[in-house]
Amino acid sequence: MADDPVGAQYEAYPYPARDPAEEKTRLVTGSPSDLWELNHHVFGGRRDLTRPLRALVAGGGTGDATIMLAQQMADAGTPGEVVHLEPSAASSAIAGKRAAMRGLDNVRFVAGGIEAVARIAPGPWDYIDCCGVLHHLADPAAGLAALVSVLVPEGGIGLMVYGPLGRTGVYPLQALLRRLAPAALPLPARIVLARRVLAALPATNWFRRNPHLADHLEGGDAGLVDLLLHASDRAYPVPKLAALVAGAGLRVTGFIEPLAYDARRLIADPVLAKGLDGLDIVASATLAEQFAGTHKQHVAYIVRAGNPVTAPDPADPAIVPVIRGIAPAALAAALPKSGPLRGTVSGIAVSLPLPSLARAIVERCDGQRSVAAIHADIRAALRPELEFAAFARQFAELWSALGGVNRMVLRYC
Ligand SMILES: C[S@@+](CC[C@H](N)C(=O)[O-])C[C@H]1O[C@@H](n2cnc3c(N)ncnc32)[C@H](O)[C@@H]1O
Repeated sequence: MADDPVGAQYEAYPYPARDPAEEKTRLVTGSPSDLWELNHHVFGGRRDLTRPLRALVAGGGTGDATIMLAQQMADAGTPGEVVHLEPSAASSAIAGKRAAMRGLDNVRFVAGGIEAVARIAPGPWDYIDCCGVLHHLADPAAGLAALVSVLVPEGGIGLMVYGPLGRTGVYPLQALLRRLAPAALPLPARIVLARRVLAALPATNWFRRNPHLADHLEGGDAGLVDLLLHASDRAYPVPKLAALVAGAGLRVTGFIEPLAYDARRLIADPVLAKGLDGLDIVASATLAEQFAGTHKQHVAYIVRAGNPVTAPDPADPAIVPVIRGIAPAALAAALPKSGPLRGTVSGIAVSLPLPSLARAIVERCDGQRSVAAIHADIRAALRPELEFAAFARQFAELWSALGGVNRMVLRYC
């Protein structure tokens, strides 16, 4: 594999490192490709999840997206299949063991690369996950075009590529390591040398000063190799990502998490915020990335440029809120009893106003009940006088906070 250093790397160090036995105790979740999240951002919340979904995970690695989506489809009673396309046999073997541990029968494995997708996994696919892969290809635009060629017209892609600002220090350190831990050596020897370099870095070094990078500390040897000894990686500031997407005849429908890309809300200074209303999604994301300086990666949902799909409407009484990643009761209990929700988004302190009924609404968000039904329930149980218009204002405020931090997405039943 001397002529394919990326292939050799993932064969020797499947990424991310995963132990199939852990499937007994936890499901790794994340973005893109959460079933409810992709329904919101790719299908406007309108996908009938009782219909078969055909999903391709392109460059699926050790299986995080494949296993999450296949499990969520099984739990939701969504028929169809998740196809794990991956050139590294070692990585696919781990993903296969994870699927087996869970008894998933809706996963299929295809060996090979994105460049051959039209031949080896022609689909067509309703949804394609491509997370952390395009930025490693010799020709990312050709890779994306290949994926588009096997996507149904109304389908979409969940994409992740690196962002440069949050990776400040990575590329100079990669260059240093090409000299001090050269590619001519076997990877295990390079890892030893890389750890020596890390231990010797002065406090002035930008990599050392970047608090947002942890893969070399938490991801084991595979994490270190992926971050610092990669044979091929590039990063995309938002405008470059937008150009890649537009060049493939696509458009962005959403970034994850939405608030991290919402310049109007991140730039709280009212003088500076003037003129930021009404920015389109890419212009807003561009400013948010420049302002925060912490985006290590960009997760974007993309559809064909001519696809007229619109985001679900939080003001529609028929809309169904879905709480992601945490049980509704647990989220409700974690919300402040009064006052705003405080936290950080992309390292920036945020204070998100919450309505007085926040807890009562969240604990009723079972993913089945519409906003109208939740209103009726609260009216019957707590507030007989509450008109729908007043409730809708409360829900809008809650949606702004929880949708912003990607804890809530929307669907139509
Ligand atoms: C950083 S890992 C990401 C794995 C997985 N998508 C995830 O997010 O956990 C990159 C993966 O892309 C795979 N890969 C590399 N070149 C590829 C290609 N040409 N086509 C498809 N996958 C490729 C690698 O083998 C590796 O498993």
